Amino acid sequence: MTIRTALGIIGHPIGHSISPRFQQAALDSLGINAEYRAYDVEPDDVGAFVDSLRSDAVTGINVTVPHKEAVMPFLDEIDEWATEAGAVNTIVNRDGRLAGYNTDGYGFLRALRESGGLDPAGKSTLILGAGGSARGVVQALLRAEVGGLTVANRTLARAESLVELARSQGVAAEAITLESDRVDDAARSAQLIVNCTSLGMTHGPDETASPLRAAQIPPTALVYDLVYNPALTPLLSEAEQAGATTLGGITMLVYQGAASFEIWLERPAPVGVMMDAAMDAMRG
Ligand SMILES: NC(=O)c1ccc[n+]([C@@H]2O[C@H](COP(=O)([O-])OP(=O)(O)OC[C@H]3O[C@@H](n4cnc5c(N)ncnc54)[C@H](OP(=O)(O)O)[C@@H]3O)[C@@H](O)[C@H]2O)c1
Repeated sequence: MTIRTALGIIGHPIGHSISPRFQQAALDSLGINAEYRAYDVEPDDVGAFVDSLRSDAVTGINVTVPHKEAVMPFLDEIDEWATEAGAVNTIVNRDGRLAGYNTDGYGFLRALRESGGLDPAGKSTLILGAGGSARGVVQALLRAEVGGLTVANRTLARAESLVELARSQGVAAEAITLESDRVDDAARSAQLIVNCTSLGMTHGPDETASPLRAAQIPPTALVYDLVYNPALTPLLSEAEQAGATTLGGITMLVYQGAASFEIWLERPAPVGVMMDAAMDAMRG
């Protein structure tokens, strides 16, 4: 494939994204003459923007909130993970044809296995949250043959929809609300706890809130927070107090970006360079 010059990420807003920092570092480290830019695209302009990606000057883009679903009708093909997730986070331009992928589930699993040191096969798992990222996480865990799932969410109906997906694949699953007494039992018996809510996120709905307290977290669990800003989230701080193993969201972010890089450029991504640049970006 001819390497072209333009890569980037679209979202709205997009100023907070650290993807330009670690993707550009990856391109530069390999001497690839390409620029990775952030594009703030209004929802009404998504179709026109996606069409503009068919240009010879474009290799591909990442897609983030709130456009992951909105871009889908404008693409020529969509891979299996993205179809199942109902969301696209990576688009590649192949000679004017646009293909959509979703690398979030892959990034989640790679970070869990390589940085968290845990294979979810057969593991009892508590998922906190049931939004877009939780769907990708549940999908990835089902592929990895997770043992059983409890999904706790503020809005029960959204948790129920994820539980139906799990049960349709023969995995025992239960939906509860975040405030339910059942959260205690589910946390106590969990080997893996994953936060997919935006609680604790800088500029999110509640920056200081943790979905669990230390007393609810078993020291034997791995607590994985998808939130990556701040690095030490309120949940991870509670988990540390409980003596549990912790994993923040930054490695997932880098691994999903590395997978996008490999789709665009058909060569191995320099993951170490990307991780260092992401850490630098987090430090400000
Ligand atoms: N590390 C990574 O690579 C990565 C990738 C994707 C996402 N993330 C992070 O994951 C988080 C969630 O992203 P998303 O795309 O899933 O967002 P989303 O689709 O908007 O879902 C948000 C989730 O948070 C819950 N929530 C929001 N405000 C709440 C509150 N005040 N109290 C209780 N629950 C609340 C929502 O519950 P309801 O259903 O009741 O509204 C829902 O479950 C974000 O912080 C995002 O940055 C990280």
